[in-house]
Amino acid sequence: MPNNEQLRICFFASHGGSNMQAIIDAIKANKINAIAALIISNNSSSFALERAKNEGIPAYHLSSKTNPDDLDDKIIEKMQMHKVNIVVLAGYMKKLNEKIIDFVKGRVLNIHPALLPKFGGRGMYGMNVHKAVIESGEEKSGPTVHLVNSKYDEGRILKQMEVPVLKNDTPDELAARVLEKEHIIYAQTIKEIAEGKIEI
Ligand code: GRF
Repeated sequence: MPNNEQLRICFFASHGGSNMQAIIDAIKANKINAIAALIISNNSSSFALERAKNEGIPAYHLSSKTNPDDLDDKIIEKMQMHKVNIVVLAGYMKKLNEKIIDFVKGRVLNIHPALLPKFGGRGMYGMNVHKAVIESGEEKSGPTVHLVNSKYDEGRILKQMEVPVLKNDTPDELAARVLEKEHIIYAQTIKEIAEGKIEI
């Protein structure tokens, strides 16, 4: 980030948005110097939109159904309007097009619930990831915060945190253990970006 520019975050979320909430809470507690400027969801009934309302953060439901011909342009229009300079993907189930990534000069973060580069790529989302980790007999897993480029899960890794995979873990149990750490490292990464300790 250029010096002295305050982070103005646009979150993209499709479902619960618990990672988004953890980051918003850290901003509200003055732990991160940033503004939660905008929330976009492709899912009109996502809890993320409910959270946006509760927090008084501008939010829009935009999807290929609401905007079949001009989705990217509409998203960019909102990002422009709210002066967004960084995108934080928080459980967003759609791929972002290059146009949107370029709008924020490649400053797009994602969190993945496994230790990339393992267990990433097409089809590796949600419980599929945790099932694959357990089936492969790995002894550890954990979240990865990374930059997003046009390839799935292949951008630069910014932060990871390990958790043990326990004997007889179910995918749900492993997911819960990883999610707890997601909430910590996503906020921590954004804090370090805001402080210039991580350069993106
Ligand atoms: C998390 O498991 C994250 O790793 C993945 O999507 C899930 C989002 O959860 N990218 P939430 O919506 O933040 O609760």
